[in-house]
Amino acid sequence: MELLEAMQARHSVRRYTDEKIGADVADALRAELDAINAESGLHFALFTDEETGFAGKLHNVKNYIVFAGSGKNLDERIGYYGARAMLKAQMLGLNSCWVALSFNKGAVEKLMTLASGEKIVNALAVGYGETQGNPHKNKPIEKLCSCDGEMPDWFKKGMDCVLLAPTAINQQKFVFTLKNGELTVKAKLGPCFKIDLGIVKYYFEIGSGKTVFKAE
Ligand SMILES: Cc1cc2nc3c(=O)[nH]c(=O)nc-3n(C[C@H](O)[C@H](O)[C@H](O)COP(=O)(O)O)c2cc1C
Repeated sequence: MELLEAMQARHSVRRYTDEKIGADVADALRAELDAINAESGLHFALFTDEETGFAGKLHNVKNYIVFAGSGKNLDERIGYYGARAMLKAQMLGLNSCWVALSFNKGAVEKLMTLASGEKIVNALAVGYGETQGNPHKNKPIEKLCSCDGEMPDWFKKGMDCVLLAPTAINQQKFVFTLKNGELTVKAKLGPCFKIDLGIVKYYFEIGSGKTVFKAE
């Protein structure tokens, strides 16, 4: 499965079957997390067959990725690189659900060896879902982007991907603007809005082929 297909196929899944994640899939996902950690300086970790992190949250989550890290612009970096990890999980045939609240941060903290200054920001439930989930509703496109003149093809392709991106409570509080040839992305205040910003920048880059995200 390619990235674009993964974006289209991915929806939040909150109920999981008992099917275990095989060693080959876990290894491939860990390899991607290692690559992300090396590139970003973040601290992403996969836990499999672990029951405490999501006990009482969602349904039957026993596998999850922890998104932790430190430093400047942390939320946006977590969003950007978390999106990459989430789509890799989808490409490996896994379902997922990004969570800010629906996990036991305290329990997960006991399992993670965090370096000084690092904190757990969010987590991603992964596994084999009871269903594949459903597409979310989108705001009208004119609320999410604006463009002076005719919309270039690359911008449209970027926005087509952005419409597929998860955001906290599906708030979609961002605007992509192309004015006088300059591309800007602004986020409006809301829960986890900076994390959402990183996620939608990742999606836009995949669709458009342009660079939008800056680590600092
Ligand atoms: C930053 C962030 C935090 C989220 N936190 C939660 C959460 O705590 N619990 C939950 O059930 N879903 C959570 N979600 C999932 C969103 O509700 C979901 O992505 C959104 O409704 C869009 O649906 P979709 O993922 O199916 O496209 C979160 C998503 C994001 C991006």
